[in-house]
Amino acid sequence: MGDETPADETQAAEVPAADADGVPADATELTTVADLPENGSFLFTVREPSGREEEVLLARTDAGMLDSDDDSEGSSDDDSDGSNDDDSERSNDDDSEGSDGPQVTAWKNFCMHEPDQRLDRGGDVGAAMRDGQVICPRHGSMFDLTSGYCDNGDAAGQTLVEVEVAVSDGVVYLTDDALTFDHEGGIDDDDMPSSTSHLTF
Ligand code: FES
Repeated sequence: MGDETPADETQAAEVPAADADGVPADATELTTVADLPENGSFLFTVREPSGREEEVLLARTDAGMLDSDDDSEGSSDDDSDGSNDDDSERSNDDDSEGSDGPQVTAWKNFCMHEPDQRLDRGGDVGAAMRDGQVICPRHGSMFDLTSGYCDNGDAAGQTLVEVEVAVSDGVVYLTDDALTFDHEGGIDDDDMPSSTSHLTF
């Protein structure tokens, strides 16, 4: 809001060229769409203009839709022969993303009900997902991964803080001018591996 940007510095900076998808040439590569978990999130840490670190979770907007293995029906006649019916033709007729596949969004990693609550607490798959929504682990509110909006539970009526990312040729880039990529993983993953850290040495 009230942050000051040195005008002459901004003007002196070269405007980076953008590729066909509008991704600036100096955008930071984060990961690939193919590497994003279908039922989880990818966690990384950025720096705010103030220098403060902030965690960001990155996810497919269809996370939690593809592999619902909570089938309490008991009739699991699924792919015992290894032929998992790869549903590439399953209703993905929103071709706004062209050949890049599923849409990807990124959100600051805290719940809007209680901002000290992380949504992605680290680990191999990150945040819990269901039907294209991320689930807060504390009170269970679910936020839509396309809009960031929550219409249920304690966080109802609130929207996650979005971080701009873009996909080009299957690669996900950080394109948010206000943020600088710091490292993959959570804030603590940088200096003290926690018990949930996937970084092992
Ligand atoms: S802390 Fe997330 S819903 Fe309460």
